[in-house]
Amino acid sequence: MERCGAVVSSVLVVISVLQLGLTPIMAQQEQQTGVAGKEVILSCKGINHHKDVTCTWKYKYKEVSSTIISFSRTRILKGKAPMTHRSELISNSEQLKVSGLSLDDAGIYTCACPSPIVSISLHVFKLTDSSNGHFLTNEDLELTLMQNSSYSQPHLSITLFNVSNKIVTTEILPKEAPQKYILRLKQLKATDSGTWICHVYSDSPSINRNISFDVKVLGFGEEHSEIMYTTVGNPVILSWHLNFRKIEWKEGFTGKLIWESQGNTAVHELLDFNVTTRRELHKTKKSNHIWFEIPEQKTGSTIEVKIPKVQLNHSGQYQCLLEINSRRMQSVRALVVMQVSANPAGPLSRGGKMTLLCQVSGPLPSKAHLLWERVNGTQTENKKSKEHETKVEVSVTAPGLWNCHLIEDNNRKISLNYTVEEAHVWNSYVVIGAIIGAGVLVIGLACVCIITGMSWQRRRKRARRIAQAKQHLLENKTCQCHRRMYK
Ligand SMILES: *[C@@H]1O[C@H](CO)[C@@H](O)[C@H](O)[C@H]1NC(C)=O
Ligand SMILES: *[C@@H]1O[C@H](CO)[C@@H](O)[C@H](O)[C@H]1NC(C)=O
Ligand SMILES: *[C@@H]1O[C@H](CO)[C@@H](O)[C@H](O)[C@H]1NC(C)=O
Ligand SMILES: *[C@@H]1O[C@H](CO)[C@@H](O)[C@H](O)[C@H]1NC(C)=O
Ligand SMILES: *[C@@H]1O[C@H](CO)[C@@H](O)[C@H](O)[C@H]1NC(C)=O
Ligand SMILES: *[C@@H]1O[C@H](CO)[C@@H](O)[C@H](O)[C@H]1NC(C)=O
Ligand SMILES: *[C@@H]1O[C@H](CO)[C@@H](O)[C@H](O)[C@H]1NC(C)=O
Repeated sequence: MERCGAVVSSVLVVISVLQLGLTPIMAQQEQQTGVAGKEVILSCKGINHHKDVTCTWKYKYKEVSSTIISFSRTRILKGKAPMTHRSELISNSEQLKVSGLSLDDAGIYTCACPSPIVSISLHVFKLTDSSNGHFLTNEDLELTLMQNSSYSQPHLSITLFNVSNKIVTTEILPKEAPQKYILRLKQLKATDSGTWICHVYSDSPSINRNISFDVKVLGFGEEHSEIMYTTVGNPVILSWHLNFRKIEWKEGFTGKLIWESQGNTAVHELLDFNVTTRRELHKTKKSNHIWFEIPEQKTGSTIEVKIPKVQLNHSGQYQCLLEINSRRMQSVRALVVMQVSANPAGPLSRGGKMTLLCQVSGPLPSKAHLLWERVNGTQTENKKSKEHETKVEVSVTAPGLWNCHLIEDNNRKISLNYTVEEAHVWNSYVVIGAIIGAGVLVIGLACVCIITGMSWQRRRKRARRIAQAKQHLLENKTCQCHRRMYK
């Protein structure tokens, strides 16, 4: 990886004659790039492992040279070069790994056993960003690219690739070029979080190197629409999702949610929150208002309030404010509530008149208006509000269903309906009539009952009388017979 960009640049033929003066040996000078903070691996190719020779890695900047490490099959001796304590031999001694690179490590690295085998010019880049890679939404990203090498530094062409691997245009301030370049990128968004690439290119010496860096942009996730419309009596949830878990934000911060009610400068603090360095969100309800709740939630990265039954006077600006090391960020959501009412309220009497009022609690955006519309009935009617008016009235003389719409850019954002009922004038006559009718019926029935009852009783009496007469007659007859027999 570290060697990817390494390209043989200038082929310097160094003719070195062994002390014995017998064999001339050639050492090529290679070019390699390194990035500050990372590591670089330098190869001492062609070590003869069969002979027990001693090899030495040396570091040279300008004319000053020092030993990094000396090694043979049997022993390793550390030298006094500045990077010695960050250097180690790997891959059976064939490679030297230098970790924690800094700009000062630029220079010429040679490996000699004992004659020079390899000479590498290490070109070091250092990329730093403002804010240690931690940004708030809308902050600017400032990158500083520095380079150092043992030769004069080339002018670089620099390209930035964003998280989607797309080239982004940046402002480059080459004030101290070629040693130092400053790149500026305006107004970061939460979606810019991730790994970016800074591509560094030069023709001569040939440099083609990608340096990756991480960007974390703390933000409110995907932005909801800034204005929320709703109708009276509905439940409303206002929420702000923070991306601190997703981007693994490392710093703690605090924040609060405040409400500025419509047409009233009073500011109410609804809740306080803080996020710890372990990315735990703690919320504390601040006000003693009972009209809102803080819903329980599992994920723990959303600031949320719920108004179970919204009223006209809950409208206004809800602001989620966030503070971190005296840097601030905020996200505002406006709540606009619609209400319809009638004056006078209640059913419409025949020939009567009433006024229907449709109103919203806050100023409407431009290109938005209110519209009263009669949905059914004999003829269609409608009435539009004037521009910037937050209410519209319509005079109604006939019953029917009316709808009020808030229309923005020809889209119906919200609607509320109102049914104008007819007063039940004729109905009461029917009821009275029915009551009277029922009364008459009851009386009639009673009369019939009485009459039938009376005639039945009369019939029974007559029957009894006939029966008695019959009996009398019978009794008299038998008496007479008796009398006749005893005579
Ligand atoms: C480049 O490296 C040399 C050698 O370590 C050092 O003396 C010099 O200060 C470095 N230059 C920069 C600009 O860091
Ligand atoms: C990356 O850059 C491209 C081009 O500048 C841009 O359209 C895109 O939105 C960027 N991607 C992200 C995730 O910001
Ligand atoms: C550098 O990164 C860009 C974007 O990912 C890629 O197109 C290019 O091939 C890379 N170059 C090198 C040398 O890795
Ligand atoms: C964060 O909030 C919790 C609960 O309200 C509180 O106990 C804690 O002290 C707060 N921490 C900081 C750093 O403000
Ligand atoms: C809104 O108005 C109602 C009365 O219409 C009142 O009871 C309620 O307390 C008010 N709410 C707020 C938050 O002012
Ligand atoms: C008109 O509205 C009334 C109630 O207001 C409803 O009973 C009736 O069905 C509606 N008529 C039509 C055609 O929608
Ligand atoms: C009128 O509004 C009520 C409540 O919002 C709704 O349930 C009903 O369906 C609406 N009626 C019509 C005809 O739009």
